[in-house]
Amino acid sequence: MKPKHKMIAAILTVALLATAGLAQSDDDDGTPWFQSWFDKAKPGIDPVGSQRYVEECGSCHFPYQPGLLPAPSWEKIMGSLDDHFGENAELDEGDRKTIQNYLLNNAAGRVNYGLSNKLMAAQRERPLPLRITEMRYFAYEAQRDSEGAGAGESKGKVIQQLRQLPSTGEAGTV
Ligand code: HEC
Repeated sequence: MKPKHKMIAAILTVALLATAGLAQSDDDDGTPWFQSWFDKAKPGIDPVGSQRYVEECGSCHFPYQPGLLPAPSWEKIMGSLDDHFGENAELDEGDRKTIQNYLLNNAAGRVNYGLSNKLMAAQRERPLPLRITEMRYFAYEAQRDSEGAGAGESKGKVIQQLRQLPSTGEAGTV
């Protein structure tokens, strides 16, 4: 083989091995992993399941469902509570950790719910905001609904929508 052909053969081999590896991580029936993830998604959004979270983070505004933001966004929010959108929302370290763990474990991209999946899919590679209302999925919806309305008004609409989602189903004891 000419050196160039050798290289192509090597690349093809690597590609084949990689594909074989991927195929193994699919379900037994050959369904691609992402397809079975979406097939198993529960509808809507996971209701809030932490009483501590409701008490601490639901006192100034309604307790946003953790599945509305990806983990890195929650982590940033929980790491800067002394300057929380202009307010001081500091917690003692024990509560901060408990709530952060709860948020990270139930963040969009980690739980399999339809709305969380849609939020992640719409965000793609874009930077992750701190505000739910700035997640592309909602920002786009708000813009579309509010031809002519001011930014404040469209944001209000998104918050209204969020409030209508199942919020505190069976609040757990986390
Ligand atoms: C002292 C009052 C207060 C407490 C306590 C508080 N927040 Fe907030 N939060 C605010 C304010 C004010 C805003 C900004 C509201 C605005 O500008 O629309 C906000 C906004 C947010 C947003 C962005 C909402 C959006 O616009 O999409 C998130 C997410 C959030 N808070 C999460 C939390 C979490 C998590 C906790 C608990 C650790 C918490 N908040 C506790 C006052 C508070």
